Amino acid sequence: MAESKKTAKLELDGKSVSLPVHTGTIGPDVIDIGALYKETKAFTFDPGFTSTASCESKITYIDGDEGVLLYRGYPIEQLAEEGDFIETCYLLLYGELPTPAQRKKFEQTITYHTMVHEQMALLFRGFRRDAHPMAVMVAVVGALSAFYHDSVDISDPRQREIASHRMIAKLPTIAAMAYKYHIGQPFVYPKNDLSYAANFLQMCFAVPCEEYKVNPVLARAMDRIFVLHADHEQNASTSTVRLAGSSGANPFACISAGIACLWGPAHGGANEAALKMLAEIGRPENIPEFITKVKDKNSNVRLMGFGHRVYKNYDPRAKIMQKTAHEVFEQLGIDQDPLLQVAHELERVALSDDYFISRKLYPNVDFYSGIILRAMGFPVSMFTVLFALARTVGWISQWKEMIEEPNQRIGRPRQLYTGPARREYVDMSKRG
Ligand code: CMC
Repeated sequence: MAESKKTAKLELDGKSVSLPVHTGTIGPDVIDIGALYKETKAFTFDPGFTSTASCESKITYIDGDEGVLLYRGYPIEQLAEEGDFIETCYLLLYGELPTPAQRKKFEQTITYHTMVHEQMALLFRGFRRDAHPMAVMVAVVGALSAFYHDSVDISDPRQREIASHRMIAKLPTIAAMAYKYHIGQPFVYPKNDLSYAANFLQMCFAVPCEEYKVNPVLARAMDRIFVLHADHEQNASTSTVRLAGSSGANPFACISAGIACLWGPAHGGANEAALKMLAEIGRPENIPEFITKVKDKNSNVRLMGFGHRVYKNYDPRAKIMQKTAHEVFEQLGIDQDPLLQVAHELERVALSDDYFISRKLYPNVDFYSGIILRAMGFPVSMFTVLFALARTVGWISQWKEMIEEPNQRIGRPRQLYTGPARREYVDMSKRG
């Protein structure tokens, strides 16, 4: 972080305070209010964090106006087209793309950790079969700390690294187990000669009584979906992981907290809502009526998969998703899928409508992801699980970055208190 020559001046009760301004590599300047309370006895107020940088980070950069997403400086389009998820994990975790030797070693390390402790299978059996897979994920990922005691000392860099590798490696196994348990099929063990994404597909879709061959086009699509979801700066779940981790909690518990946050419909659940919306519209002819409802302020209907708090331009991930959708549908021989046709037409209509243009509402990553995952055979309840699997590397990289900060302190936001002022306890006999 560079300190610029600029300062910000703030006046309160006739007293003027000068605040330092920091400049990042790219992106807006940041006014440092660290000394504000000491100087003025006032806090700042920004409940949705719309103007607040909660930390300094070198991992992911988003320019919402231009529709840019960079992991460690590399554009998401290049990573998704030319790289793969294993490479992206290495990049997020260590800051640089791996050399061939580093990649080979990292891939082997991840592969070496894919199995989970056999006792974990019994843990799964304690859940009802109809439990939502995300509920199971929150519990089982948190429970990793009960199984891997040798990687919970966060003051030891090697233990932090092992915990990171374990989570990247075991999340696909746990996610597939949550799915298999949900549908009543036997767990399928990982196969370490398969790629990360192909292995995940076989753990989800293979059954012991049949030979299962992973479709390489679907494995590539899965891998790309993982790359697109790997990190997204300081969103709600990532901020949750950082805050939980700031107290010194073990990494498995922190990632479990992130999964819990991601489960909410305003965060990880939007692709499910987008798919439901496309199914409800059903046919391109019904789009004008739907758009009229979206534009009616009293209807409370939103065009799901459109709009974003940060992107005021085309979400770069949405473009890659759209391309991936075509590849998957073509491979599966269903390029005439009615939902894909509805999605295309809906996008075309919305992008030429002044309501959406004037509000800078563009497709986001969730507009196409639901239809791709459905076509690949995943039920809706697994969509957020897949998101959690892919985002784990982002969470763990952000957690690691925070823990390794020299002046790391517990996160402790303040508040604007609007409850009762001090009052005296009233004896029960004198109440009511
Ligand atoms: N459909 C119709 N109108 C919309 C939509 C939409 N999807 N999104 C925003 N608007 C309108 C909104 O009604 C408001 O209009 P007005 O100024 O006339 O009152 C204006 O646009 C600004 O909306 P906002 O709610 O203040 O914007 P926000 O930044 O708080 O909301 C959002 C961002 C993503 C919650 C919102 O765009 C939305 O609800 N989108 C649909 C859900 C969705 O697709 N979510 C996934 C987000 S991407 C996931 C990720 O990156 O992790």
